[in-house]
Formats: sequence, structure tokens, C-alpha cells
Amino acid sequence: MALDIVIMAAGKGTRMRSARPKVLHQLAGKSLLQHVLDTVCALGSDRIITITGHGAGEVEAAVRAPGLEFVRQEPLLGTGHAVQQAVPLLHDEGTTLILNGDVPLIEAATARHLIDDCGGQRLSLLTVALGDASGYGRVVRDAAGNEVLGIVEHKDATEAQRQIREAYTGMMAAPTAALKRWLARLTNDNVQGEYYLTDIVAMAVADGVHVVATQAANETEVLGVNTLSQLADLERRYQLGRAEALMDAGVRLADPARFDVRGELVCASDVEIDVNCVFEGRVEIGEGARVGPHCYIRNAVIAPRAVIHPFTHMDGEALGVRIGAGALVGPFARLRPGADLGEEVHIGNFVEVKNSTLARGAKANHLAYLGDADVGERVNYGAGSITANYDGANKHRTVIGPEVHVGSNCVLVAPIKVGEGATIGAGSTISKDAPAGQLTVARAKQVAISGWTRPQKKKK
Ligand code: UD1
Ligand code: MG
Repeated sequence: MALDIVIMAAGKGTRMRSARPKVLHQLAGKSLLQHVLDTVCALGSDRIITITGHGAGEVEAAVRAPGLEFVRQEPLLGTGHAVQQAVPLLHDEGTTLILNGDVPLIEAATARHLIDDCGGQRLSLLTVALGDASGYGRVVRDAAGNEVLGIVEHKDATEAQRQIREAYTGMMAAPTAALKRWLARLTNDNVQGEYYLTDIVAMAVADGVHVVATQAANETEVLGVNTLSQLADLERRYQLGRAEALMDAGVRLADPARFDVRGELVCASDVEIDVNCVFEGRVEIGEGARVGPHCYIRNAVIAPRAVIHPFTHMDGEALGVRIGAGALVGPFARLRPGADLGEEVHIGNFVEVKNSTLARGAKANHLAYLGDADVGERVNYGAGSITANYDGANKHRTVIGPEVHVGSNCVLVAPIKVGEGATIGAGSTISKDAPAGQLTVARAKQVAISGWTRPQKKKK
């Protein structure tokens, strides 16, 4: 049986007070519409049709992917009119699931439930009991409170109907053939002069089609976004949900209210994460690793028992960052794409590492730069030393053998090799390969000038 999915995303979102189309506002690092699309992609449908209108070009460009179709609605004459635009793309039979682009946290299981309840035969509505349902369409039932008779929009409702607490969430699954018939009969004879999708409920009842209303298990998954305040509220609910799931899996979060995941965070057990850390992209953290407060970590893999001290900034971008087991990083370290730290490596404060490998036990503890470098085991890289990896046109590599000591404040002008066990004297600018096992110094010899006097102030 065919399954078509229609996502309504044409609305303007005036109350967001933003030039950006509402469905492109971000929740947990992903647009509202993308949340819905990712969820429905897991349902295995035949077609996914998004109705665009306000900012259509921008919206379509932002979410475009194979298997997604877009239909434009112009002008915007209501939710019924929106779904009418998709009719030419719908199958002749089967089920059509209708969702909202601004209700981002709808769960796949709930959508599946709606589809199964419809089964290509019944009209299945998702409703929610609200303390204050004002603004919402109300679910009107028969005198016994059993059979659904219709949905009445808040603005069209009588005072008695406005007392109803069961609200329509805006999500339904309908038998496609009947849906097409009902949509063709919609009128805009109501307070708002719009074509209401919700009018099809009474039509279904009149046609003898069974209407099933399911109440959402949790309120968060049916909440829509109309204002920045609602968006912030939903973001916190979402983050709290992620935090709870991690804690259930054995992750110690210092404060679940001060924790943000904008992507995928995979943690082994006994991971500890202190307050105000932000994780983006895909981050993996191994058993027993600790992340101190105020760290930003994006696209990185952190091995077991590593310790990330406070205020560390780690952005792997496309290449990723890898932290070896038991490594110590930070505070105030900056790891850029391709930073690959082996086991027990130490990277201290104000050290920047980019596109470099550091073998087991290597240390760069203070104020240093390692770019395009291969650093051997147990190297000690002194404070203030840098690789001069860029000649103004091209990048070159620096290769530092195992057991090398690079003194403080050295410049290693790449391409260059420092042999195993070499020592580089402090303050050296090294522009030729340094031999293994020897001390290489490249700086002016120290001189003492006897009889030298300091300049004196002129007398007037
Ligand atoms: C709608 C429902 C109401 C329900 C509420 C839940 C109707 C008539 N009413 O009301 O019963 O309680 O949602 O939030 O359906 N849209 C378009 N094109 C349009 C109009 C809207 O694509 O011409 C999209 C919007 O972008 C939005 C969705 O449809 O994603 C819902 O539209 P909205 O204006 O928020 O409907 P409500 O009046 O809130
Ligand atoms: Mg709405």
C-alpha cells in the first residue's frame, strides 16, 4: 500500500520577527524542517512532498536531497489549500501522512502509529490534552465523549467548544483516495476566510469513514514553534532529553541543564562532562574520559581515559580530531582539523595543533604551534616554539624524530627533519635538517661588552 508524506512548510512565521523563513531556524544545530525530514526518512515512504511558500527557494535549497519533492503554494490560503497543492503528486490509494514543518520533534514511532491507525481506510488524528488549548483547533466529540465529530478552529468555536481541552496537533494520516475527494470540496466559508484542512474531519464522519484520535504520549513532540521564546523552550526540552539519555547510559553530567549537543554524541560508560560544554557534528568519547567545563568540541574522537581540561577548543571540521588514550589536553588548547594525538600525549595551554600527528608520550605544554608536523614518541616541544609550515604559497611538513627535545622559542622552518634524539637549543631558527643525537643551535653567540655604559639623559 502506498505511503505518501506531505509536510506543510509554506507559512511565514511572522512572530519569529526574522528575515529567515521559520522552518529554517535551527534547533540543536539543525533546521526545524530538517528534523521533520530526518524523522520521516526513517519511515520508508513512497513520496515525501514538502509544501513551500514563504522563502521557497531558500527553504528548498537548504534541505534538498534525493527522494524529496517540493510543491509551491502561492498565495497561502490555509492548510487545506496547502495540501491541495500536493494532490497531483499523491498516489490514487494508500495512506497520506500530513505533518508540519514547524513541529520538529515529532517521533517516528508516533508517525508510524498514525499511519497504522489509518491503514488506508480510517482518518487518524494526533491530538493532545492541553491545560490551555486556546489558539488550537478543538476536537469535538459526541455527547458521550467517544466518537469524533469534527475539529473546530479556535476563532470559529463557540464559548462551549472553547472549553474543550483536547486540541488537534496539526498532524494526521488520511486514506489518500478519500482525502483527494474531501480536499476538492473544501470552502473558505469561515472566520479566517481560509481553506481549513481540519474541515475534512466532518466530511469523513459524513462519509461514514471511521475517525481515530490518538493522544500524543508526550507534549514535547507535538509542540510547534511560532516565536523565538518557544524555540528556546523546545531547545531546552530537547537538550534535557539528550542529557537524560546519556545519564541513563552511564555518563556523568555535572548539570544536565548546562549541556548542549548539536549533532551526535556517543559516549562510553564513566565519561564525565562538566558544565557548559558544546558538542557539534559527530563526537565520540571513550570510557572514563573526562571533559572539563566550557569546552567546545566538534567532529572529534576522544579515546578512553583522556582528560580535556577547561576551555579547550577542538574543531575537526572534515578531517576530524583524534585524542589518544590517556592524553591530557588543555586548559585553553586549540586543536584544529587533522590533529591526531597518540596515547599519553600532553598538549598544554595556548598550544595550537593542526594537521599533525603526535606519537605516544609527546609533549607540547605551553604556548606553541604545531602545523603539518609529524612528532615522534616522547618528544618534548618547548614553550613558544613553532613550525613555520607556510612559505606564503605552499604548506610543508616538519618531521621530528622520537626523543627529540626542542628548546623554547624555536622556529622550525619547513620542510625540515629533526633526527632521533636531537636537541635543538632554545631560540634557534632551524632551516636545515638537524642530525640525530646532536645539539643543534642556530642563534647569535652571546657576547658581554665590558666598559659599556647606558645612555644618560642630556642635561639642559
Ligand atoms: C492548525 C490547525 C489547528 C491546529 C494547529 C496546531 C488548521 C486549519 N488548523 O492551525 O487545528 O490546532 O494547526 O498547531 O489546519 N501552512 C501552509 N500554508 C498555509 C497555511 C499554513 O503551508 O496556507 C503551514 C504552516 O507553515 C504551518 C502549518 O501549515 O507549518 C500550520 O499552519 P498554522 O497557520 O500554524 O495553522 P494554525 O492556525 O496554527
Ligand atoms: Mg500554528
